[in-house]
Amino acid sequence: MKADKTVKTLNRREFSGLALGSIVPLAAGLAVPGAGTSARLQSSEASAQSTAVSGFETLYPGVWKATLGVPGKISPVKLRFRKPAEQALRKMYAPSQCPIPGNQIRGEQTDRGFVLKVPLGSGERVYGFGLQFLSFQQRYCKKVVRTNADPRVNSGDTNAPVPFYVTTGGYGVLIDSSRYVSFYVGRESRADAARNKSSAEQLPPSGPHSSQAVEAPNEVVVDIPSQQGADIYIFGGPAMLQAVERYNLFSGGGCLPPRWGLGLWYRCEKDYNAKQVLNLAEEFRRDQMPCDVFGLEPGWQTHAYSCTFVWHPERFPDPAGMIRSLARQNFHLNLWEHAFTNPASPLYEPLKPLAGNFEVWGGLAPDFLKPEARKIFADYHEKHHMGIGVSGFKLDECDNSDFTGGWSFPECSQFPSGVDGEQMHSHFGLAYQETIEGIFRRRNTRTYQLVRSTNALAAPYPFALYSDLYDHQQYIRAIVNSGFSGLLWAAEVRNANNAEDMIRRLQTACFSALMQVDAWFLMNPPWKQVSREANNAGRIAPNWRKLEAQCREVIRLRMQLVPYLYSSFVRYHEWGTPPFRALVMDHPTDPQVWKIDDQFMVGESLMVAPVIAGVSSRKIYLPKGDWVDFWTGKHVAGGQTVTMQVPLDIIPVFVKSGTLLPLARPALHAGDPESRHITVRVYGKGDRPCTLYEDDDSTLDALHGKYDQVVLTWDDASKQGHMERTGRGDYPRYEIVGWERI
Ligand code: GAL
Repeated sequence: MKADKTVKTLNRREFSGLALGSIVPLAAGLAVPGAGTSARLQSSEASAQSTAVSGFETLYPGVWKATLGVPGKISPVKLRFRKPAEQALRKMYAPSQCPIPGNQIRGEQTDRGFVLKVPLGSGERVYGFGLQFLSFQQRYCKKVVRTNADPRVNSGDTNAPVPFYVTTGGYGVLIDSSRYVSFYVGRESRADAARNKSSAEQLPPSGPHSSQAVEAPNEVVVDIPSQQGADIYIFGGPAMLQAVERYNLFSGGGCLPPRWGLGLWYRCEKDYNAKQVLNLAEEFRRDQMPCDVFGLEPGWQTHAYSCTFVWHPERFPDPAGMIRSLARQNFHLNLWEHAFTNPASPLYEPLKPLAGNFEVWGGLAPDFLKPEARKIFADYHEKHHMGIGVSGFKLDECDNSDFTGGWSFPECSQFPSGVDGEQMHSHFGLAYQETIEGIFRRRNTRTYQLVRSTNALAAPYPFALYSDLYDHQQYIRAIVNSGFSGLLWAAEVRNANNAEDMIRRLQTACFSALMQVDAWFLMNPPWKQVSREANNAGRIAPNWRKLEAQCREVIRLRMQLVPYLYSSFVRYHEWGTPPFRALVMDHPTDPQVWKIDDQFMVGESLMVAPVIAGVSSRKIYLPKGDWVDFWTGKHVAGGQTVTMQVPLDIIPVFVKSGTLLPLARPALHAGDPESRHITVRVYGKGDRPCTLYEDDDSTLDALHGKYDQVVLTWDDASKQGHMERTGRGDYPRYEIVGWERI
């Protein structure tokens, strides 16, 4: 029997009186969201639809929800683990009306599922859809939001897909579905195209690109298979950055890693034993290589593919003792694992009734959407791992691979919670994080961890993403894209083609959410030998000390930045501001940045333009404003593209003029009291105060606002710096040891 085809239209009630002028306008010539469409429809067909049945619900100021058709019970918002950061959402300035007129969002049930059509204004540029590696600006693309570890083409596949996009029109859209949703971004139906053509002709030229043809407003067509409806969430601006902040706050607020998480991470070769780990730890300290976290790879377990989660008795006869030794040298320990549970694991029998009906690598796929499964898994980990001091995990293989042997559970799987494999792929990464992170929450302990997959509403989880991909340019683009969807990306370093490649990659890692050298397949640190083959054959490069020294400098730069990065993360936690984000997020009205996918903002004041090996100079666009070269102190006016020579020890970094940049004394680990000694660099007039945060760095108190603030200001007339601490100063304190005028 043919399904009943109904066309549902949102009620206009909420929008009666909405005039285009009431939508916050962007720069001259840039259309406001849906403006062109709106202008067309309001006079004619919209009025005829004003009696339709459903409308937008205002959830929080600036966050609207609408229901079209009959959505199912399984979706990211319905299965969410974290509550929205309500107080912060209520504190934000909010546009009074939804940026997309509800009467223009249409839904239609079809034989294959549900289709949504969301208007897209002329000139709007579109970003998001999770951790995209192969593209940046998404208008005129098709994106299938599908979990896949190895995207081969620019289809939308990624290990961290999110059905959320934002536009330069200053709003974000979340389609609340666990299906593999396809977005046709800026697609016109034939009727629309004809209509658009006539309206486009009347539109003003598009801002600075006035010589270009004007784009007609059109729409995002959202194809949701196997569903009879969907909830859609709209996040208002007024500009793109606030829309993303609102989405992050709606997700629960950004995570706040402990300081130690922001230092260097080093992962040992997969079969290292305790002795080798401790030797290497000593070597790091002896050779003055800063490092905060050591990671163990599969060989710490008795069986790894699938996992037993049991310490290997020969390699690690006394894990607790080893962790104590590492802790004495101020290293944290992170363990690799994946969720697929081997028959020899003590977790196998208890999890058997709580797993999917397909095995992966001969192991169970636990149903983390069932609280009982989460509890069994978490209790075991707490007892055998966190209980002896493990500081976190690297949650591997929770994405899905269609092109590398087809591992993971198939989409037709069934899980006890009632979801199928496709839906589970849209939840697995996050539900796994919830399982593991829940342990730290109940132990009131800060953590920072790694995960290979995540999904919608991920911002509160202190996990950085990584992957087996390794194209350097794509890694940079992933940093840039991560900020649109509440994600963090660790652009890790493994082997390299040559020393230059190694340094360039490490520089990028230095400005990513988690700085990691992942030597899981290298017997020796890569600065001793970058080639995998030679490294494992023990052929240490003759002048490796030179490369080691160069790497040390890059890591020391990271250590200097820890206080600044930490403040950026506090902002992420409290206001939802992505610590790593595309230039377009801060400058949506500047068409020059719409396509820039190889430069990004770190925190409020730094703009970074990484360099890939083989390049000796690069073009860098400086958005409007005054900038200062971090390395030379040279002032450069914004609003222009400069060409910069990039010697190997330089990764271009520009500081916003006016910034007070706190730089720590580079220590061997982030907890070292040395690292609390701060030199404040004063850029330009130094009129942008800076706040540092002091807290216990170990409990969750800071996440509930328990910290002291150290506010740094500069009086340019007297050339005096000033610091003011709020609170009692009970926590390890920053000491300002100097002010350097640049
Ligand atoms: C991969 C992972 C690598 C490494 C390896 C160990 O799946 O992405 O970083 O951990 O497993 O087998």
